Amino acid sequence: MRGWVMAGFAGAALAMAASALAAGAADETVLARQTTLKSMGKAFKEIRTIVAANDIAAQRATVVADAAKLKSLAPQPWSKFGPETRGTSVKTEAKPVIWTDAAGFKAAQTKLLAAVDALDAVAAKGSPDEVATKAGDVGKACGGCHKQFRKE
Ligand code: HEC
Repeated sequence: MRGWVMAGFAGAALAMAASALAAGAADETVLARQTTLKSMGKAFKEIRTIVAANDIAAQRATVVADAAKLKSLAPQPWSKFGPETRGTSVKTEAKPVIWTDAAGFKAAQTKLLAAVDALDAVAAKGSPDEVATKAGDVGKACGGCHKQFRKE
């Protein structure tokens, strides 16, 4: 009898340890996606500042480097929004609708990837107007998703 009780305790302790481990892993995942999103934010802010200053021709090399950075970062965050991250103890701006409207969240990602590709394609040789337009489209793709899926 006593043995069973002890085994029960041990099992419960193991289950708790396992769920703590899983929660820890989910927290790591959330932190990783936020780091990537921050880098994306930094690269895009730099482009936006250059566009706003009408300085694309003079700062072409920076625009090209930032567009390439965006292109490599843009596909990365989304696999880190798995359902296991819903219960994270990390402070997150992710809205629960991410998991109830998975198709909408996916569509917003697809939009971003297309916009980032289009910006990258004109970054080196496009006219300043073209670059500004494509950068604007990227901004709309960021904002469109944030409006729906990120807390203010
Ligand atoms: C498909 C939806 C989606 C798209 C597209 C998107 N984001 Fe976000 N973004 C989010 C969500 C959701 C969060 C909140 C993540 C969290 O807190 O766990 C976020 C958070 C951020 C953050 C805050 C990161 C932090 O924790 O400090 C920045 C900066 C950011 N996004 C920039 C951008 C930029 C710039 C773009 C466009 C180049 C972009 N995002 C496109 C969904 C998106």
